[in-house]
Amino acid sequence: MMQLTINSAVAMQRLGASLATSALPHDLLLLNGDLGAGKTTMTQGLGRALGIRRPVKSPTFTLVREYREGKMPLFHMDFYRLESADLASIDLTAYLNEPGLVVIEWPQVIQAALPTDYLELQLTRIDDAWDSTKRLVSFKAHGDRAAAWQVTALKQFNQPEA
Ligand SMILES: Nc1ncnc2c1ncn2[C@@H]1O[C@H](COP(=O)(O)OP(=O)(O)OP(=O)(O)O)[C@@H](O)[C@H]1O
Ligand SMILES: [Mg+2]
Repeated sequence: MMQLTINSAVAMQRLGASLATSALPHDLLLLNGDLGAGKTTMTQGLGRALGIRRPVKSPTFTLVREYREGKMPLFHMDFYRLESADLASIDLTAYLNEPGLVVIEWPQVIQAALPTDYLELQLTRIDDAWDSTKRLVSFKAHGDRAAAWQVTALKQFNQPEA
């Protein structure tokens, strides 16, 4: 498993941007981590790199926000408030069939409905100070496409000029 230390919200957005520029249509990104870990912050950097101008906002109350104005559609989901009984209300397969990028915060509830290939990140605070901006990001690629995506994104993140 690959791990990365991120020192600021801006760096987290840059990591999101690296994931966006190396993403292909139908890619799926799962973001695990506690409240305030930085999942939405990462997605904001991702959205901006796709050319989405309006701010990416947390979809906590809407379950899904759709952004179709960028280089490829972004479907940003947050299942924090989703009960497993309400799972039928979201057609994940339909979103994955669109030539866009699906990002899911709090994905545990849909774990059983996932495709075979996806990139899973875990964002963790690694400093006790309440206002610390340090985070550990752990990468777990499920499948060949996710593994290739991870390699490209990390290369891009580590050598932004290349
Ligand atoms: N290194 C960092 N990465 C990301 N966010 C950071 C970092 N350091 C500080 N922050 C701040 O922490 C907060 C993270 O909030 P964010 O909404 O991104 O978390 P989240 O993981 O989406 O939480 P939730 O589970 O409630 O949706 C933001 O205010 C952000 O500016
Ligand atoms: Mg969030």
